[in-house]
This record gives sequence, C-alpha cells and structure tokens, in this order.
Amino acid sequence: MRNESPTPQSIQDEEDFLTCVHAGLRKHPKAIPPKFFYDAHGSHLFDLICTTPEYYPTRTETAIFERYGAEMAKLIGTSCVLIELGSGSAIKTPLLLQHLANDAVYMPIDICEPHLLHSTHRLQAMFPAMHMQPLCMDYTRIPAHALKNYAARRQVIFFPGSTIGNYTPEEAVLLLKHAAQLVGNNGALLIGVDCKKSPERLNAAYNDADGYTAAFNLNLLTRMQCELGAKLDVDQFAHYACYNAALGRIEMHLVSRCEQFIRLGKETFQFEEGETIHTENSYKYTAHEFQQLAHMAGWHLKTTWNDRDGLFNVHYLNLSDTEPRHLSRQAR
Ligand code: AVI
Repeated sequence: MRNESPTPQSIQDEEDFLTCVHAGLRKHPKAIPPKFFYDAHGSHLFDLICTTPEYYPTRTETAIFERYGAEMAKLIGTSCVLIELGSGSAIKTPLLLQHLANDAVYMPIDICEPHLLHSTHRLQAMFPAMHMQPLCMDYTRIPAHALKNYAARRQVIFFPGSTIGNYTPEEAVLLLKHAAQLVGNNGALLIGVDCKKSPERLNAAYNDADGYTAAFNLNLLTRMQCELGAKLDVDQFAHYACYNAALGRIEMHLVSRCEQFIRLGKETFQFEEGETIHTENSYKYTAHEFQQLAHMAGWHLKTTWNDRDGLFNVHYLNLSDTEPRHLSRQAR
C-alpha cells in the first residue's frame, strides 16, 4: 500500500459500550472503563488537555523524543515494524518516524476510527515512502494474525503517553505479556511512563483551569445519552480527580450532585448524593517500579530516557537478558 491513502482495517469489538456500561453501573462501587472516553469528541478533548499548562506529560515526553529520537530509532532498529498502541492523534510519532528508514512499516492501532484515519493520512503525507497499515480496534485484543505479514521482521511495540498507567498493575502485566507474545523473541518495546511526583502537581494536571479534563470526563455521560439512549442529567454530575498516594494513582470519578437515577433500557440505576462512577485510574511509577512490572511480563529494561525534572520516563525494553543495559539519559 506504499504511497497510497491508508485505509484502516476494522476488527469488531465484541465488548461493546452498552454491555460495559450496564455491567459497570451494576457494580459496587460503580465503574466504567476509560477506553470509552475516546469517541471523536472525547479524543478531541484529550488533545486539548495535552495543550494545557497543567498537563505536563505530553510536552515533557515530546521533549524527550525530540532529543533522543535518533538514539531510540537506532536501538529499536531503523527498518522495524512499529506498532503504535492507542495512536490517537500520533503527535509525537513523527519524532521517531523521521529517524526510521523508508522500508520501516508503521502500524497505528486505535479504537477511534476518525482519529486513526486523520492521523494516518497526516503521517503518510509526511512520510510518503513509508508503508502504513492502520488498524481500527481495541489494542488489548490484537490477534496474532494482524502481524502475520511481518513475521520475518523486527516488531516493536510503541506505547507512548503513559497509557499503561490507565491499567491496574495486574492488567498492565497482562497487556505487556500479550505485547511480548505478539512481537516474539526478537521484539522490543518503547514505552512512555509517567513518574511519581508531588500530589499538588498531579492534582493540577487532572484539574486544569480551562475545564478540559472535566469536559472529557463528563463527555462519557453525553455519549451514554446519545449512543445508548440513557436517561440522565449530565449537569447533575461533577468531575472529580485526586491523587491516591497509597495506591500511587490519580483517580477520576463522576460524582452525583444529588440523589438521582440513570435509566438505561429497562434498568434503573440509583445514585445517592456524592456516590461516584469511577471512570479512570492513572498509575504513576518510578523507573524501578516499572522495571519490576515489565519484568513480570518477560521484558528486560535496557535504556531509560527522562527529563531533567524527573517527571516522565521513556523506557526501551526487549525480551533478551543478554543485551547490555545502557545508562539513563536526561533531556534538557
Ligand atoms: C491517556 N492517559 C495516559 C491520560 C492520563 O493521563 O491518564 C488520560 C487522561 N485522563 C485525564 N487526563 C488525561
């Protein structure tokens, strides 16, 4: 498909929105998985969050890629198959792609088709000679056959943005194990991970003054109204995000402002005043904690790049424990 407009291959997500919302509202405490934030509007709101002064991860990670992209490309192999999980707008991706050879393959995977199409077209225009194969699906369910055409090549999972933090540590190990199985023994992983830091800084990042994070969280309810026909009053819920130091994670919730009901199909879900729907966790890891987590999934940490303030890490890992480990590098 080189030099042609990329068309995403779509794989049906069996675990649909309705099933998850039903199951999540029956739970005690109520909880809906964060993957449902990312419809077209939610993806746009997430892009706006990334531009706020409070949300440091995006610009910090970008600076790390700007400084060390060439070094990273050398380590992952300039002719690799780069599989980006949850590629979204893929804003940072060119910082890596520009150092790859024309025979590299880029495979962005995202659940939001308009976003996937738009970003792949943009990248294909920037790198016309590179083969791009977008895949529209939940990246936790990539089937082995999705990579069958590239069995002989070095396959690298690219997972920037600290999205790994949106999984519990147990889920993260399973996802990293799945990634290891997909890419095989010669594969590698390049992953961005947000670090532990002061609760003040973390709380500010998830409560931006422009209200984009609040709108992103509340958009889940709007989606439920529009797509599922849920009967609810969005204005009677409030955004809440706070760092839970004991668990090392930001928690996001939708808090009921009063006693009320959500009606969904034939079911009615009751809310007390102050009761919440838990919508997201964002775990923060020291380099050592992440190394241990990845190790449980079979990955060996080889190199870590970070910023001078120690806000964010990008790790390179592979599945061989014989390759030497490099020193950590700091971006300005
Ligand atoms: C996508 N993910 C890494 C973001 C995070 O920081 O956990 C999602 C987000 N939620 C609120 N703000 C950003």
